[in-house]
Formats: sequence, structure tokens, C-alpha cells
Amino acid sequence: MAVRVRLLGTAAGGGIPQWNCACAGCARARGTSAARTQDCVAVSGDGRSWYLLNASPDLRAQLLAAPELAPGPGRRETPLCGVLLSTAELDHTLGLLTLREARELAVYGTAAVLDALAGPFPVRPMLDHYTAVSWHTVAPGTPVPLRGGLAATALPVGAKPPRYAPATGGDWVVAYRITDQRTGAALVYAPCLPAIDDAFLDAAAGAAYAILDGTFLHEDEMVRATGGGRTATAMGHLPITASLPRLAGLTGTTVLYTHLNNTNPVAAASGDGHLTAAGAEVATDGRLITL
Ligand code: MLT
Ligand code: MN
Ligand code: ZN
Repeated sequence: MAVRVRLLGTAAGGGIPQWNCACAGCARARGTSAARTQDCVAVSGDGRSWYLLNASPDLRAQLLAAPELAPGPGRRETPLCGVLLSTAELDHTLGLLTLREARELAVYGTAAVLDALAGPFPVRPMLDHYTAVSWHTVAPGTPVPLRGGLAATALPVGAKPPRYAPATGGDWVVAYRITDQRTGAALVYAPCLPAIDDAFLDAAAGAAYAILDGTFLHEDEMVRATGGGRTATAMGHLPITASLPRLAGLTGTTVLYTHLNNTNPVAAASGDGHLTAAGAEVATDGRLITL
């Protein structure tokens, strides 16, 4: 049985269109198939036990749209086992509240991420009143066994806390390498990636797919779009024009850009020539990939 990966959503926080945005990209996407829901991925090693990579604010609609995640055969039985959080950002954690009807749930995150959900954004004490959640602290570098034959290893990639959380140190942003323990087939997921170092390239080497931070195409994209604001890297997102050359040596890995911001021109293009020539693709909502 191959590993199955369903891209549930591929937009950055706010989605495309964002509800209060009249920019050209949002206007074009409003009410069309160019719309994108917020970043979230579902993965399974056996087709029966599924894990989410992040919990998007659009989760209810995303779960209803994914045939593999339909409940049954028991009345309250679900193939959804747990959620692996790569950050504590609201666009990756608000969906946890949507899962409160679950009978039980396993949630994985670094100590920094789980601490944020215990206090500044108290999802943890709240959810514990609704369902039986097992909260698992992820230690970067130590593989976490998952049901269905998978293992997940976190790799620290950034130290930027969410705006609502105290500016403490810690592993606020990680990438996950998801590996099929039977075949070695692997996937790397890093929707927030402020830089690419050798440790990241080592983790991505040999992975069939790398689902990566495609928030911005250009470093000064937000500055140009809004006439102010910060650069992409200052916001914790290496722009595609900088990441693509760094990934050139990754042979055999298909790069899929996700977490697309509504300012990013590749979010609108069905295929981008510049990316295609480099062997990279723009992710789309609902795409199913197998490893
Ligand atoms: C990010 O990806 O940088 C955050 O989700 C930004 C936000 O929406 O607050
Ligand atoms: Mn985000
Ligand atoms: Zn917009």
C-alpha cells in the first residue's frame, strides 16, 4: 500500500480570496475555481489511518471534500487519528477547535507550539473539555511512529513565534519528514521556511515530494503590494525566487509550492513556466499524490 497524500488546502493565512481583500488576485479568485483554502495536508500510510499536517481554519469544508476522510463504518468512527503541527500560527491551529466532536485525537507539536496552545491561545484546556486529546511533545530529530506504518521527524527551521505568543526562544517552526517505515519512501512538508540550510537539504534528499513554502514569489512582494510592510524573509518566508536555486541539487524530488499568499502571482497561474523549467510545481487544493 502506497503512502497517500491529499493536499486539502494550499493558501497562506486568510486564503484566496481573503474575505476583506479587493486586490487583483483576490478579485480574480472570488467565486471561481482559482480560490484556495488555507494550508493543510492529509497523509496516510495504509489508507485507513489518516493524519493532518496542520489544522486549517477551513478544516470542516476540507474534510467534507476529501473522500478518504469520510466517517464510518461505525456511526462516529473516523479515519482521522491525529494532527501534526508545524507551527502555532492561527492559520495552522484554528482548525483544532473544529475537531472537538472527535471521540479522541492525538496532537503533535514542539514544546514551544504546545505551550502556546496551553496559554496565549488556550486551545488545549478548551479542547480537553470536549474530547480526549493526547498531546505529544515532538523532539526535533527523534522519529515519531504513527499508525499505518509511518514515522514523522521534525526538523527545526525557524524561531519566529506567532504574533499572539510571547517572543520566547524555542522551536516555533519545524518541517516534517514523513517516512514510510516499510519502504523508506518519504515526503517533506515545510510550509513556513525562512531559510534553506544544509540540514534541510539533507532532510529533503531522497524524498519523493517536498511540499514547501510558496508564500511569496519575490522578497519585496508585500512591500510592493501594500506600499509598506516587511520583506518575505522578515516574515519568516523565503521567497520562491530564492528557494528555487537552493533546491536545484535535489534530484528525484518534486517540489510543490504551497501556503500561497494572495499577492503571489503563481497562485493564479495554472502553470508557471519559470517553475516548470526548474522541475517545481504549484500545489493545488484537492490534489492527491502517492509515494
Ligand atoms: C505566517 O505564515 O507567517 C502566519 O500565518 C502569518 C499570519 O497569518 O499571521
Ligand atoms: Mn501562515
Ligand atoms: Zn487579496
